[in-house]
Amino acid sequence: MNANTFAAVDDYISQLFQHDDDVLQSVEQSIREHDMPEHSISPNQGKFLQLMAGLVNAKNILEIGSLGGYSTICLGRVLPEDGKLISLEANPHFAKVARLNIQNAGLSHKVNIITGPALDELNRLNDDKSFLFDFVFIDADKPNYSNYLKAVVPLTRKGGLIIADNVVREGKVLNPNSSDEKVKGVREFNKVLASNRHLSSTIIQDVGRKGYDGMALAQVIS
Ligand code: DHB
Ligand code: MG
Repeated sequence: MNANTFAAVDDYISQLFQHDDDVLQSVEQSIREHDMPEHSISPNQGKFLQLMAGLVNAKNILEIGSLGGYSTICLGRVLPEDGKLISLEANPHFAKVARLNIQNAGLSHKVNIITGPALDELNRLNDDKSFLFDFVFIDADKPNYSNYLKAVVPLTRKGGLIIADNVVREGKVLNPNSSDEKVKGVREFNKVLASNRHLSSTIIQDVGRKGYDGMALAQVIS
């Protein structure tokens, strides 16, 4: 088994279950055209998030890191008519591209892309606390992952789900002496996650079109 097999099976799955479509492909196209990082989740990962959000009957969703809006669109599509998704994006250029893609997906009425440092907005949401989120997806700058986690736990309802992308990083997460800021960031995140008594958590390794990585899953239990 090698990376080509994993990628080919990933494509086999997304074709068999038709997890890809023109709108999602146009998001990928816009990302290439604007020289943005090609770090969107894959079609199968998008479906995985949709299933997880559906399982917790997600009506209020929070996303940290919009990039071009790929996962935003996947999650926006499973919201009920009165559902809302807030997506935080630090880069104003990315936020602009994401808004256009959200509009193209017909989801502008449910999705609010907020531009600016995510921690600022998370602090505002924690001050306000007028509602809690059912589902949170963290997929932004890795060095801040543990800060994002600490900020989102009190914003997530009991029974709600927090998912974080890229917590395995081709196995580099095994290295306690890594000088890679992203690896250091996710190692700290994983440690904080594992020690949080309010959460029931694990990490799922993930192979396919996007290489070898993993997603952390955490349910708020108390
Ligand atoms: C990186 C970030 C991502 O969100 C991702 O899915 C893959 C890689 C990165 O910054 O290296
Ligand atoms: Mg990612």
